Amino acid sequence: MSEEIKIIDDLPGVGPVTAEKLRAAGFTTIESIAVSSPMELREVAEITEPTGAKIIAAARKAADVGGFISGEEVFERRQTIGRITSGSKRLDDLIGGGFETQAIVEAFGEFGSGKSQIAHQLAVTVQLPKERGGLDACAALIDTENTFRPERVMQIAKFLEMDPKEALRNIHVARAFNSSHQILLAERAEELFEKLGCKLLIVDSLTSMFRAEFVGRGTLAERQQKLGMHLRQLHKIANLYDSCVFVTNQVSSKPDAFFGDPTRPVGGHVLGHSATIRIYLRKSKQGQRIARLVDSPSLPEGEALFMVTENGITDK
Ligand SMILES: Nc1ncnc2c1ncn2[C@@H]1O[C@H](COP(=O)(O)OP(=O)(O)OP(=O)(O)O)[C@@H](O)[C@H]1O
Ligand SMILES: [Mg+2]
Repeated sequence: MSEEIKIIDDLPGVGPVTAEKLRAAGFTTIESIAVSSPMELREVAEITEPTGAKIIAAARKAADVGGFISGEEVFERRQTIGRITSGSKRLDDLIGGGFETQAIVEAFGEFGSGKSQIAHQLAVTVQLPKERGGLDACAALIDTENTFRPERVMQIAKFLEMDPKEALRNIHVARAFNSSHQILLAERAEELFEKLGCKLLIVDSLTSMFRAEFVGRGTLAERQQKLGMHLRQLHKIANLYDSCVFVTNQVSSKPDAFFGDPTRPVGGHVLGHSATIRIYLRKSKQGQRIARLVDSPSLPEGEALFMVTENGITDK
């Protein structure tokens, strides 16, 4: 190949129409195509599998897949991780000292368990200076359920003695109307991180659109594929912009609602293996919430008790 392959349109076999279809399905980068399958490309771009295979082969050659680095380099990279306080020392301690950058943190739990409250809280605390547990940076929020409340942000900001209006100005909010729109917004968010140096991306809820659109057994594979692609986008933002990606995922606690484990989050194992830190939230008495850390690669399993109050998330 003589000419350089930089964007998907440069791949042999990808004309403008195919490129458009691929982009619409979320295959926006050479890397995303490199890790796809001919069958996937056939479905989304209406090309034959042999053509798909050729496109993928070219993408693999051109893709920046990174390489092996030493454990020491990994260690050094981890030293640069930033942390955002939740307002509760106990919750922060549970996850190793706050919500970390270069990671996707997933909160799952039933309605009212505090997922969106944590989202509002982090959107404010990320703006705090480092010595107060923030990263001195802006936040972006993809709101799929229309649950973002500026009034709540102002309440939390006031308690933290911040200018409430300024706190609102530093939160960039977009409503997502369906899962494809959600994916497009995640792409748009990248520009925001590039330009403004935001350090927190919230997707609240990560799964509601997918759950609503892909109903029934026959659609499971497609749902998982799309969700997996979306998670790859989110991982990219977390790593490339050294930011924290906080996502929420509603699960039912009604034992008769599902077969098997009733508290299994939507997204099943795609989400399970992609999220870096997973917290299971449940309600307790008098405004208390219990957070449990699940499947952490390096932290001990445990639980933390925190409160959702007028002032935001607190220890008591
Ligand atoms: N201003 C406030 N003061 C005290 N508690 C509040 C306040 N605002 C919300 N809450 C508490 O937070 C709960 C809502 O939590 P949240 O919106 O985070 O739920 P969620 O986990 O996002 O649920 P869903 O799955 O429905 O989105 C309320 O039921 C209430 O207990
Ligand atoms: Mg919510």
